[in-house]
Amino acid sequence: MTDDQSRDLYDRALSALVGGVNSPVRAGIRPYPFFVRRGDGAHVIDADGNRYIDFVGGYGPLLYGHDLPEPVIGSIQSRLADGVMYGAPTEVEVELAEFISRHVPSVDQVRFVNSGTEATTAAVRLARAHTGRDDVVVMAGGYHGAQPTTLVEGHGDEVTPSSPGIPKAFADHSIPMRFNDVEGFKALFEARGDEIAAVITEPVLGNHGIVMPEPGFHETLRDLTEDHGTLLIWDEVITGFRVGGLQGAQGHFNIEPDLTTYGKVIGGGFPVGAIAGPARILRGFTPTGEVFNAGTFSGHPVTMTAGLESLRYAAERDVYDHIDRLGTRMREGLYDIIEESAPTYSVAGVASLFKVLFTRAGPTADRDRCGDGCRQDPDCAKYEYCPSDGGDVDDGETDRWERLFWPAMKDEGIFLTPNQFEAQFISYAHTEDDIDTALEAYRTAI
Ligand SMILES: Cc1ncc(COP(=O)(O)O)c(C=O)c1O
Repeated sequence: MTDDQSRDLYDRALSALVGGVNSPVRAGIRPYPFFVRRGDGAHVIDADGNRYIDFVGGYGPLLYGHDLPEPVIGSIQSRLADGVMYGAPTEVEVELAEFISRHVPSVDQVRFVNSGTEATTAAVRLARAHTGRDDVVVMAGGYHGAQPTTLVEGHGDEVTPSSPGIPKAFADHSIPMRFNDVEGFKALFEARGDEIAAVITEPVLGNHGIVMPEPGFHETLRDLTEDHGTLLIWDEVITGFRVGGLQGAQGHFNIEPDLTTYGKVIGGGFPVGAIAGPARILRGFTPTGEVFNAGTFSGHPVTMTAGLESLRYAAERDVYDHIDRLGTRMREGLYDIIEESAPTYSVAGVASLFKVLFTRAGPTADRDRCGDGCRQDPDCAKYEYCPSDGGDVDDGETDRWERLFWPAMKDEGIFLTPNQFEAQFISYAHTEDDIDTALEAYRTAI
């Protein structure tokens, strides 16, 4: 496996692009990232012609892998033939919004934007305006994009922005809490629930390990927020139209948030975001309300077409059955491997998401309970040891994961997200053979 072309490209990129990349996680691959020449089904081929089974999937949007279904490509092409965009509304925006609200009970209306970051930023602004309050609860280790309210670290009175360039005043209004900390949330709401505009959380922490909710966690948040007039924002940028099929994670967990943010899958691989929810809240946005939100590219016709046709295709085929079944095959296979060679490690994930977490402590797991990934079951032998929040994932062997394990997987022809934190994604293009080949690679690398 040579990588001369990638090295030369990286050399050029270091001069032309900040840090050689346009999103920092891509530079996490050492000594330098491989550059992709093209995708092919569930595979990517790099600039030197090396082929990898791809479990990065563009960090989530690629429900179909790298070959869009024919009807999706056909619709995109005919859309392009009619012009790229207009700065005036098109029918396809309405159709995609109708599709989402038809399938997701908590949604009547949608505002499309261009990224998950835009979606969560606008959702927080809307929640603050709707409630007339400033404070927002975020999950420690939760990621909601490059936005000031959620880029915070610390806890209690010591919350600071986690990036330079964000005024401390933003962090003064953010309250980081531990995912799954039911008692902590009860105490927080008792003390100051009436000051809190919103709680923003992913249904499943997908950017910081994969951490599943403990039974009752989301129900508690739903009750507390409802009781205190706080909006519950579910960030379904990863889970939307991936976990729980067409209803997303809110169907899977049977929770109706007040606001939902989307991105990734709903754009069919093109840049997208959305804020969705009941009309009584959504109409706070301009032009019906006063919460400013606008975008030259928002509701872009090509993106809307790709998203709509991708979701329609999924509604008519066995797409979710396929990817979820492969997810289970993967997690169960991984569980067998860690049981044999690294019993302190954990397997996490749900539906088409999976991850092996290099946790440090714990007994050999109880196979019957978490063979298909950790479910935060208090009766499980590993319950005390598997990650239940972002901090637990930080405490794992993150260097071993990144510096030794990731390169070993690459040598085996498997492309994983480059650190212990980001989920792995299975697409409709993956086959059982791809999963079995990847499992063999895991067996070798672990
Ligand atoms: C849960 C979640 N929210 C928001 C974002 C930000 O989305 P984007 O990268 O499209 O701005 C991400 C990105 O990975 C995400 O995973």
